Amino acid sequence: MDRVLVCSAWPYANGPIHVGHVTGSLLPADIFARFNRLVGNETLLISGSDMHGAPITVSADKEKVPPEVIADRYHEINSKAIEGLGISFDLYTHTHTSNHQEVVNEVFLELLEKGHLKRMTTPQYYCDRCSRFLPDRYVEGTCPHCGADHARGDQCDACGMDLNAQDLKSARCQLCSSSPELRETEHFFLKLSDFTGGLKEYVEARNHWRPHVRSFTLNVLDEGLLDRPITRDISWGVPVPVDGFDSKRIYVWFEAVIGYLSAAKQWAATKSDPDAWERFWKDGSCRSYYFLGKDNIVFHTIIWPAILTGVGGLNLPYDVVANQFMNLGGQKFSKSMGVSIDIPELLTKLRPDVVRYYLSANMPEFKDSEFSWEDFAQRVNSELVATYGNFVHRALSFTFKNFATVPAKGDLDDRDRAALERITDASRSVSEFLSACEFREALKSLMDLAQSGNQYFDAVAPWALVRSDRDRCETVLHVSLEICKALAVLGYPFLPFSSESIWKGLGMDGSLEETGWKGLETPLNEGAALERPAPLFAKMEATAFGGFSQFSVLNLKVGKVLSVEPHPDADKLYVMKVDVGKPITIVSGLKDYYTADELSAKTLVILTNLEPAKLRGVKSEGMLLAAEDGDKLALLTPEKELVPGTQISSGLELTDKQISYKEFQKLDMRAGVMASADPPRIQVGDKVLGCAASGGETGGKYAALVLDDSALVMHGPDGVKMVFDRDIPAGARIR
Ligand code: MF3
Ligand code: ZN
Repeated sequence: MDRVLVCSAWPYANGPIHVGHVTGSLLPADIFARFNRLVGNETLLISGSDMHGAPITVSADKEKVPPEVIADRYHEINSKAIEGLGISFDLYTHTHTSNHQEVVNEVFLELLEKGHLKRMTTPQYYCDRCSRFLPDRYVEGTCPHCGADHARGDQCDACGMDLNAQDLKSARCQLCSSSPELRETEHFFLKLSDFTGGLKEYVEARNHWRPHVRSFTLNVLDEGLLDRPITRDISWGVPVPVDGFDSKRIYVWFEAVIGYLSAAKQWAATKSDPDAWERFWKDGSCRSYYFLGKDNIVFHTIIWPAILTGVGGLNLPYDVVANQFMNLGGQKFSKSMGVSIDIPELLTKLRPDVVRYYLSANMPEFKDSEFSWEDFAQRVNSELVATYGNFVHRALSFTFKNFATVPAKGDLDDRDRAALERITDASRSVSEFLSACEFREALKSLMDLAQSGNQYFDAVAPWALVRSDRDRCETVLHVSLEICKALAVLGYPFLPFSSESIWKGLGMDGSLEETGWKGLETPLNEGAALERPAPLFAKMEATAFGGFSQFSVLNLKVGKVLSVEPHPDADKLYVMKVDVGKPITIVSGLKDYYTADELSAKTLVILTNLEPAKLRGVKSEGMLLAAEDGDKLALLTPEKELVPGTQISSGLELTDKQISYKEFQKLDMRAGVMASADPPRIQVGDKVLGCAASGGETGGKYAALVLDDSALVMHGPDGVKMVFDRDIPAGARIR
């Protein structure tokens, strides 16, 4: 048995994790860890949220809250999303723990004692008006290379050049725009020059690294390493364990990589086996694998190995498996285009295995890849649904219908033996590719096996045999179910949820997770009763996901009614105060439909960015949404209680831009009835449309945004949908 430490880069807790984090590091790390556990290797998979650094403080400044609020919020959200995706961390922690701080202190002091740190005084921008030093991202100015005006102290986005803040022309404070002055300040530097020789040897010997990772690192080493400051004049971060440095913090990258070590220690402590981490860090036979995006390479191939070498006695990375980028519209992945592709949001619409499938099949291992909904739907439909899912479903449902038990294996002919040999071949290549971290190739071998399963099934034609030769029919079905079982075992690292359900559907004992790779050899339980199989995956329609930018003009929020008064100058109107995160006034025409009592403390859906309008002399700052049909009216309300101010249809970019009533009326929103939950389809009037929705009961009536040939079910976080407080026909318009 081998032992592996599997590390995934730590996402900044400054926003929800997105597709880029998953395909770049979280998913490959999980596939690799699952594979290793499956074959019986002792495996530790760890990571956590990166809670410090400029990305967090910049977001905090924007929202005018302390950095901890941002970091805690997104740590919570991201931990949940990571679990929902089936990323099987042994520990997903964060860097704002006392354990992490202690381990960072130890490492820092050890390096200091061994002479690998030095103190140096250098000039740094200081803003007098804000009375603070300005880290690079907080200085703006004119780029010395291209002349662009909004270059930041660390980089110019216009020309892409790396910058030093001192190089900027007409530098200004990003917070208050006044011009900062240079002041002397003392910092600790990591003497990277101590390590150049050793690192070169280390990297040169790593022939198994991906070529781009190795050559990039060797290039950096050839240019020679400069000593790097590892403290900053900031107040958010890990304190410096040295007197006189109270107003400074440790640089985020220096301490975040130490998270790999502190997380292993924390994991061991929670297992009440406090030394267990040493098996993964001190035993030279344990291999450590790091999964990350290409922008993080130097920190993992140079800085972290330098720190580890300096401390001594700890394993250096065995492999640094850096992926390239997944792009959206040709640009590095980021929130854009009105439909965000954040993971928490995506999981409200798609099952985790479907997301995992596409992000594995299109993983940017050796070159950048491009995300598109069309490609997503096409690959899911033709590969996952039509090849993999289809084979498993036809084999299982034919067997269930005609035998209802696991069929017996009789005499095998050449074709059967060839089919079983395909399993052996596939297991060999899947295992070889996964051991080498070639995930796309491994997945291809898996899909080839599914494809050959379909071909076998067509060739042996059990539907003819069932009438002519039942014994032979049982044999070919037995072989088919063997292929299904192999698809479950070999597919487990990629599609853990579906694999377990195939395993169970085949009438196998225990779980696949406990059985492991040897499940390939475990015989089928002949004669065991089968359950009625359900299809594994549903077809998806790209249009149901891609076309919603037109709705991103809406800013819909949950509102709670605070008070209701009759309008002083109009018979049919109420003046209501509604809490949408803050109290606003809404003038509504509900008086003929609802008494003030019926409305009090009600939770509603409010359009918050409508141009304010005066209605008979009272200013209305928003509009509540209701469905209308003839003289019937029903108010929209969340199916489960949500906090006032919660954003609805959170997939849409939040907008503060006001829209006019006329623009609003151009959008088509209706009450729809869920015609089927899987695949999700919704009936709106006499049309049945494919829709983006997760869950939802068949027959349930929900508010939907309607496009030409698809719909989006309106929802809040966790897929909480918007329903109606009174009965209203499907197709009724919402306004
Ligand atoms: N937070 C960094 C990023 O998102 C990655 C940190 S990886 C670690 O780019 F090793 F430093 F933790
Ligand atoms: Zn300033």
